[in-house]
Amino acid sequence: MRYSTLSLAVIACLALTACGKRDAAPASTRTPAQVDDARIANAASEPQNWLVHGGDYQAQRFSGLDQITPENIGELKPAWSMDFDTTRGQEATPIVVDGVVYVSTAWSKVYAADAKTGRQLWQFDPQVPGPVAAKNCCDVVSRGVAVYLGKVYIATYDGRLIALDAATGQPVWTTQTVDTEGMYTISGAPRVGGGLVYIGNGGGEFGGRGYVSAYDAQTGQMAWRFYITPGDPAKPDGAASDAIMASLVQPTWFGPHNDYRGGGMVWNAIVYDAEFDQLYMATGNGYPWPRLIRSEGKGDNLFISAIVAVDAKTGAYRWHYQETPGESWDYDSTGDMVLADLTLNGQPRKALMHTPKNGFFYVLDRQDGKLISAEPYVPGITWATRVDMATGRPVIADNAYYTDKPVTLSPGESGAHGWQPTAFSPNTGLLYLQANAHATSRFIPRREEFEYVKGMDKLGLHHFAQHGPYEEPPQRDPNAPAVESYLLAWNPVTQQAAWKTPGSGGGVLATAGGLVFQGYSRDVYMGELRAYRADNGAEVWKHDTPNAIITGPISYAVDGEQYILAASGAGGGGIISAPKVMRLPQVGRLVAFKLGGSAQLPADPPLAGPVVQVTQRFPADVVAQGAQLYLDTCARCHGIGTRASGILPDLKRSATLNDAATWRAIVEDGTLASRGMIAWKGLIPDNSAEMIRAYVAEQARAEATP
Ligand code: HEC
Repeated sequence: MRYSTLSLAVIACLALTACGKRDAAPASTRTPAQVDDARIANAASEPQNWLVHGGDYQAQRFSGLDQITPENIGELKPAWSMDFDTTRGQEATPIVVDGVVYVSTAWSKVYAADAKTGRQLWQFDPQVPGPVAAKNCCDVVSRGVAVYLGKVYIATYDGRLIALDAATGQPVWTTQTVDTEGMYTISGAPRVGGGLVYIGNGGGEFGGRGYVSAYDAQTGQMAWRFYITPGDPAKPDGAASDAIMASLVQPTWFGPHNDYRGGGMVWNAIVYDAEFDQLYMATGNGYPWPRLIRSEGKGDNLFISAIVAVDAKTGAYRWHYQETPGESWDYDSTGDMVLADLTLNGQPRKALMHTPKNGFFYVLDRQDGKLISAEPYVPGITWATRVDMATGRPVIADNAYYTDKPVTLSPGESGAHGWQPTAFSPNTGLLYLQANAHATSRFIPRREEFEYVKGMDKLGLHHFAQHGPYEEPPQRDPNAPAVESYLLAWNPVTQQAAWKTPGSGGGVLATAGGLVFQGYSRDVYMGELRAYRADNGAEVWKHDTPNAIITGPISYAVDGEQYILAASGAGGGGIISAPKVMRLPQVGRLVAFKLGGSAQLPADPPLAGPVVQVTQRFPADVVAQGAQLYLDTCARCHGIGTRASGILPDLKRSATLNDAATWRAIVEDGTLASRGMIAWKGLIPDNSAEMIRAYVAEQARAEATP
């Protein structure tokens, strides 16, 4: 309720240009991006801007603008679009300050653009080294920048945090936040507050310990670092987490320490809470995946799959709540955290809401981390029967840990909900999110001893197994309910669904106009922006976009006009579902809509050519070996069963398929390393390249001759 009347006044104010202190100087003469704590704390008073990643310090992704409503939304049309220079994935949430959009794209490049026209003001390319692309599962994406105290902060895929001058895009300071010899990458957006910039990292499928670092926003000096999982107990880190590691965390891990075990990467959500000067970190799954290998099959393994709260100034531990103790199913707890004042059982509570991959909707008291409620937000969860309110722990199914035999569990590794942003409307009291019900994964234990190989995603189980040539044939239970994807509106007070609208969408935005906006992927190449009534989920509008939209849209206003803006372009590596019809890759772009807009969006990308006509024949045993090697090493980027995602190359269409020498040079020697295709020599057995070529060639032949 607190925004709806206010925002009209602000729009009127904008139209008149001179009311209130901030608008006293014309935008062009003001030093840009003067965003500070006071401004972010009062973000509701300037809904024309989108100051921080989650919209405000409560990360509700709620826009107070109410010009666009269910009644006039028919007039919502493209206002402008701006092309990025990359065809790789787009996951950023743009920031808008005083008429300027700041956004990052693949390879951690940053753009500033005029929010009214989409005209590019500057671009910054941090020159991320190509081979770093192979250090993570899911493409060289970036989820956004932070804007604070006149600077724009970008965390680069290779682990640097760079402060740019917001006026020019020139670097002011740079600091390396990870050991570049390690398997770390950064796709997440930095967060700001209390004079500091906070950044985590990713790479949890490749071994290593997650942590969050805080840096002085002006100087880049490190203020503190907090590790999520323990290191060698004999060698403390000299970090803010040392004391809690020794007293609380180490005793939850069993077996000998080694450098690769851990996980708990904070690769997405971090929320700064100005009210308690507290920082919340949402942590990822454990590594290796099975607790059996990681920790002798015992222990909670703190702080994986948890929310950890620390003192924002010092990094000192305050509280944690672990959602999936002893996690073994890729149940990251890294999804958005949303803060709100809720009335629960008649009591006003400072709540933190969370919808992790494991399928439960958690409401915590964020002052002390106490669990208030936890209920499944999708049906059909099988890894746990419920969360026991007496202990605050999930009641985990007997067979869930796949210690000696395979098990099929729901949610699967893609989660009941992923990283896609969620939104909360204080007007409806509902939290909106994309949800997937009844999706499963089959977890198959490996028989042989676990061997860590740096650079390979050795997870400790048979992965992608349902699709692969493993001993276990796919066993989809014919009676299992079909997978359902929908936009879900959830009431956190009653812990019940308010409505569901079917569709495979991405991140969401809620507005004071009574709308929920969501990007939608028809396939990887084409999508839509859609709008729903916030109260009942009725679809009221949609518009084609020449790209899928998977990230969260935002809203802002310039000269009294409300805009809806999203970064378009799919992403997420090779394991996303393959399109039925292959097209040529197209660049990602920003697409902006306003009432009465008159811009034309670019056309859909043209169809790809046919698969290569393969000339050579290959022996069946070579093809079979190639299939296994492909699955273990190449599938994560080029697609399971060579069904390409449409973002990274479809190898069945590679001209090199008939050219053994060039193929080998690319695969073994890394002639395309600067573009993210590393040299696999040393990581795969000798002569693998040729066996994989045989397999891909036979796949191409099969496709060409149905
Ligand atoms: C981490 C992701 C990743 C993995 C894993 C990966 N590749 Fe690639 N590969 C790429 C990228 C990115 C390109 C495209 C580079 C460019 O833009 O030209 C590529 C290109 C190629 C090409 C050239 C395709 C063309 O356009 O003609 C071949 C051949 C290839 N990869 C084979 C393989 C094989 C074989 C494996 C497994 C041993 C493998 N790749 C594993 C990312 C990957």
